[in-house]
Amino acid sequence: MNNFQFKNPTKIIFGKNQIENLALEIPKNAKILMLYGGGSIRKNGIYDKVTQALSAFQVIEFGGIPANPEYEVLMKALDIIKAEDITFLLAVGGGSVIDGTKFLASAALFEGEDPWDIPSKGKRTTKGMPFGTVLTLPATGSEMNSGAVISRKETKEKYAMGGPGLFPQFSILDPEVVKSIPQRQIANGLADAFTHVLEQYMTYSVDAKLQDRFAESILQTIVEVAPEILKDTSNYNAAANFMWSCTMALNGLIQQGVPSDWAIHMIGHELTALYGIDHARTLAIITESHYTYNLESKKEKLAQYAERVWNISEGTLEEKAQKGIQKTSEFFQSLGIDTKLSKYTENYKETAKIISKRFEDRGWIGLGEHKKITPSDVEKIVEMSY
Ligand code: NZQ
Ligand code: ZN
Repeated sequence: MNNFQFKNPTKIIFGKNQIENLALEIPKNAKILMLYGGGSIRKNGIYDKVTQALSAFQVIEFGGIPANPEYEVLMKALDIIKAEDITFLLAVGGGSVIDGTKFLASAALFEGEDPWDIPSKGKRTTKGMPFGTVLTLPATGSEMNSGAVISRKETKEKYAMGGPGLFPQFSILDPEVVKSIPQRQIANGLADAFTHVLEQYMTYSVDAKLQDRFAESILQTIVEVAPEILKDTSNYNAAANFMWSCTMALNGLIQQGVPSDWAIHMIGHELTALYGIDHARTLAIITESHYTYNLESKKEKLAQYAERVWNISEGTLEEKAQKGIQKTSEFFQSLGIDTKLSKYTENYKETAKIISKRFEDRGWIGLGEHKKITPSDVEKIVEMSY
């Protein structure tokens, strides 16, 4: 096992009716900017619950943060934070609203000239404006981590950012919010969380037995709960298990002391930036080709995964590894997610070249757990996903 230091300061408030306790978590004299997305919270009752809980506070609202939170939109919220002397941010939404809020928490205290430098130049945030979240969509784990991903339409770019100053102070996780989520977003949440675990697991063994089993148990839980929650989003127990699995998949715990990959995400972000494909679907597109292309260096872990998560007991190590890859794609397809790029865009043929050139131009010359995946490898992986 590798050395590690682990600190996650986010307080989780989990369960039914917990939005009622929101006021207890925010400083009494706070001036709040409440941030939300395209309006789902006004239809499903979450807006009413949150505004009622905040009735004793001074609150300004900022709605309209789109999926894949957009820099230009966020800059308008930044103007409000400065003009109104906001002291606390509250994100009410899924990964996009929470990530947008993290960008604002960072930008509000940023001392540089251009806030776009934070995502595009990878400026780490050690101190941000305090914020909390009310999660409406289980998927990204953003409610309990310090990362964010920010998009810029104008230049078709999408970059990850983060730092220890960007953990939410608290996150309210009420599984009852799941009942209003459309099937497409439920499927996305399941696929995204599943891939988060894979990115931190499907590498090489450092004999970290507990981390491996944490990861495998999250994968098994997602596989078990997927058909239940897709069938009936008002199944509270299924929703609770789905929600907590998504949070645990990316709150830092399972990645301590082990190598991690993240190449699927790095390539996937380009597919969203270029074609607007939903984040989770870009992962489903890249996973099979990435693991097939890198079979040699990942085969021990792939075979262990096939055995422990999919109960594959027959065959050689290679055969089990290949079966594990096949089972993964079948799982994505069982959620109703296409795993080939050509199903999403007609302009796919140049994609591999475009992405590998972008990585080369940015100097991203070594992706993956061994930092050995070159732009030309990326080109081949993307081509295999057509
Ligand atoms: O905008 P509204 O109207 O609220 O609708 C949203 C949005 O259209 C809707 N929705 C959310 N909760 C709902 C609901 N509809 C009905 N009922 C509810 N309770 O769902 C749509 C998608 O929301 P979004 O927040 O975009 O989804 P998700 O949580 O999947 O977030 C995706 C973003 O997070 C980033 C992705 O790259 C992408 O930009 N990620 C963030 C990570 C992190 N911070 O750790 C890690 C991930 O790997 C990921 O990259
Ligand atoms: Zn993801």
